[in-house]
Amino acid sequence: MSGKKFTTSSFIEAKKKNEKISMLTAYDYSTAKLLDEAGVDSLLVGDSLGMVVLGYENTLQVTVEDIVHHCRAVARGVKRALVIADMPFLSYHVSVEESVRNAGRMIQEGNAHAVKLEGGEEVIDKVRAIVKAQIPVIGHLGLTPQSVNLFGGFKVQGKSEEQAKKMIQDALLLQEAGVFAIVLECVPEPLAKLITEKLDIPTIGIGAGKYCDGQVLVTQDMLGMFSDFKPKFVKQYAQLGEDMKIACKQYIEEMRDMKFPSKEHTFAMDGDVLSKLY
Ligand code: KIV
Repeated sequence: MSGKKFTTSSFIEAKKKNEKISMLTAYDYSTAKLLDEAGVDSLLVGDSLGMVVLGYENTLQVTVEDIVHHCRAVARGVKRALVIADMPFLSYHVSVEESVRNAGRMIQEGNAHAVKLEGGEEVIDKVRAIVKAQIPVIGHLGLTPQSVNLFGGFKVQGKSEEQAKKMIQDALLLQEAGVFAIVLECVPEPLAKLITEKLDIPTIGIGAGKYCDGQVLVTQDMLGMFSDFKPKFVKQYAQLGEDMKIACKQYIEEMRDMKFPSKEHTFAMDGDVLSKLY
């Protein structure tokens, strides 16, 4: 990790040099700043925002406005990492024109460097048009959460020959359409390895095993802050949720016992001035 900005070209260079790419999600300024200072290569303003920040059941209710709003905050906190805005459900499905316009909003209003969208052949005309508009695109295959109702739940994808062949074809199509990387989510490790070997662009795995060119996790999952459920592929590197509760309980207790605020957290006043107020 160096202080040099991580760009879309850095993704391709990293793959050539066999260097792993790190990605985490971020939705606000202060977290983005911390993660950027820690040296993460890219920050995804994911539509997982809907679940881990807004408390929705899935990602389907997230809007372009939501992503733009949070992306602006993330972009303000970042010096080095590449900021990627997730295109939410229906923002790139209706027409090519609308898709380009929405992708453009992510860059122009959200200050993102790139956008991510889910799907392969079904959205390839939109991907081509967005790339043509000079907006870098990252693809997303496998368990694409915006298709949760079609899949009938959050299930591993690509286990059957038919599904696996389609995923390989979609990956090649996306590469040919000009995406600079592809996220592979909940894909069996051997299939993710095969796709990674077939592509010149990097794969970023989440629940797709260690052979991907990089990894992404939802930050709230990785830091132990999200307790609604824990997918099998998540490793918790900290228990910030528990730490937050401990800190919060201590604050409540000290405040009730009048140990907080103490002198060091309090502003004094000139005694003469005060005496004139009584
Ligand atoms: O929305 C998101 O956070 C994502 C990642 C899980 C890849 O799409």
